[in-house]
Amino acid sequence: MTQANQTPDSGITIVDLRSDTVTQPSEGMRAAMAAAIVGDDVYGEDPTVAALEEKGAALLGKQTALFFPSGTQSNLAALLTHCGRGEEYIAGDRYHVYTSEAGGAAVLGGIMPCPIATQADGGLDPEAVRAAIKPDDPHYPVTRLLCLENSVSGKVLSPDRIAGPAAVAAKAGLRVHLDGARLFNAAVALNIQASELAAPADSVSICLSKGLGAPAGTLLVGAEDFIAAARRQRKILGGALRQVGVLAACGLYALENNIQRLAEDHRRAALLAGALAQFDGLEVQRQAAPSNMVFITPRTEDHAALTLYLRDKGILIGGQRPTIRLVLHKDIDDDGLERCCAAFRQFYRYR
Ligand SMILES: Cc1ncc(COP(=O)(O)O)c(C=O)c1O
Repeated sequence: MTQANQTPDSGITIVDLRSDTVTQPSEGMRAAMAAAIVGDDVYGEDPTVAALEEKGAALLGKQTALFFPSGTQSNLAALLTHCGRGEEYIAGDRYHVYTSEAGGAAVLGGIMPCPIATQADGGLDPEAVRAAIKPDDPHYPVTRLLCLENSVSGKVLSPDRIAGPAAVAAKAGLRVHLDGARLFNAAVALNIQASELAAPADSVSICLSKGLGAPAGTLLVGAEDFIAAARRQRKILGGALRQVGVLAACGLYALENNIQRLAEDHRRAALLAGALAQFDGLEVQRQAAPSNMVFITPRTEDHAALTLYLRDKGILIGGQRPTIRLVLHKDIDDDGLERCCAAFRQFYRYR
């Protein structure tokens, strides 16, 4: 049988570096899915969802959790819960919640974004957060929330880079939401517990469908009263699902089996960055604490040729310009990494 990550004609396994969202559920995950005991989760009767939410909350050190279909919906429900119409959230101008979630909070909640400069390491300057908080004046929106992110485009923020801006926000009476789509990558890269990174935040969104390898699903974690209110927002957004334990089983499997193995992706990302840095005509961004992403900037004239050359060898890279993101994940093993390095080597040999 041809696997979804094999080309049908050659049977070559595709090395897909476009994202960590492209993974296939493993055999073990599929077995967990098949064996899941389910119930109607809108009635609160799905034991697998309950087990996942309990496990997620415990790992993040929060009271409780709520299962969402996607990270976008989880972030949006968090914003709608924290902020009302005419209120605003501060976020990094390169953070996903501001750049890549279709302005959902403004569209559906009348919530203003207040973007501030994302620093080179992906963090926010606490002073810039302080300066962005509006005084109590009827001319201004009410600043209600600070949105942080970790990791940020593969950059890992240490606990103090989260705690610094969060402390400024808390002192001013703001709530703090952390988009931790890849928080476990950050925790594994820093060799600390994810709960340490989550501690300064009132709510945290954790994607199960990225490096953790589940086909769908995100957990929003926080205090019981916050999650009760977020449950209402999830209903409004159409995200309350029925026998969704089949998906929660994948998330539970991911939390039990796929966190520590993220270190493998980080190791391969560091090897890939080192190998690619040797070629003239290819710039590789260095990461202070490598996680699962490598950013490369080929010469403009090489972009299309490189992409096509790699595709011919069964290696997929993203179409971003001028800098391309390469993402390591559980479906790229050492053989895949070696094939990728060899293909780049061959391409640059003749440039
Ligand atoms: C940092 C970050 N937050 C949120 C999301 C949204 O997740 P989803 O694609 O599940 O909606 C993504 C997706 O790539 C992301 O990278």
